[in-house]
Amino acid sequence: MRKSFDLFFVSSNIHKYHEAKNILDSFGIHIGFLKSDLDEIQSNSLHDIATFKATNAFSKFKKPLIIEDDGLFIDDLQGFPGPYSSYAFKTIGNKGILNLLKNNRKAKFVSIITYCDKLNLESFDGKLNGRISKTEKGKNWGYDPIFIPNNSKKTFAEIQNKNKLSHRFKALKKFSKWYLHK
Ligand code: IMP
Repeated sequence: MRKSFDLFFVSSNIHKYHEAKNILDSFGIHIGFLKSDLDEIQSNSLHDIATFKATNAFSKFKKPLIIEDDGLFIDDLQGFPGPYSSYAFKTIGNKGILNLLKNNRKAKFVSIITYCDKLNLESFDGKLNGRISKTEKGKNWGYDPIFIPNNSKKTFAEIQNKNKLSHRFKALKKFSKWYLHK
């Protein structure tokens, strides 16, 4: 068993941690999990939300860490749920989202990863275009059963290689490049 971690992933969402760990392991960065429900500001900017959460988390844990804030932006809903994705999932859920959509099903997932330690506060983004399926397909967490990435016929919940192409992968790839050279 590893004795130490390079940094910590602070979140209340174990699914995000498992995916982030799998991705960062592949870049040689080893993360631990700090389960914490961080305070959030209300903002239209994922970047501002992520920066606020990361600085708060650092003042609480005093360890090098990353936090992630995500949003699912749906064209036909003028970007909704976007920064309110977590709330929309808990309230109307996937069925509620499907009921709101007609012909234009274009959407994108955005991830912001913010790293914070004593000296650094840096954010990295990852975006993935796709569309919303007509029905829920496959079983996995969050919006995975209704999000179909571009160039695929299957939802995130049905594909094997989500961690090689997701919004999370893209943001963590940028982060890793920076982290390994800082
Ligand atoms: P937050 O970043 O914790 O505010 O979460 C945003 C929302 O987007 C949550 O409700 C998640 O369920 C959802 N979400 C973010 N990333 C993914 C993903 O990779 N798959 C499915 N749902 C996601």
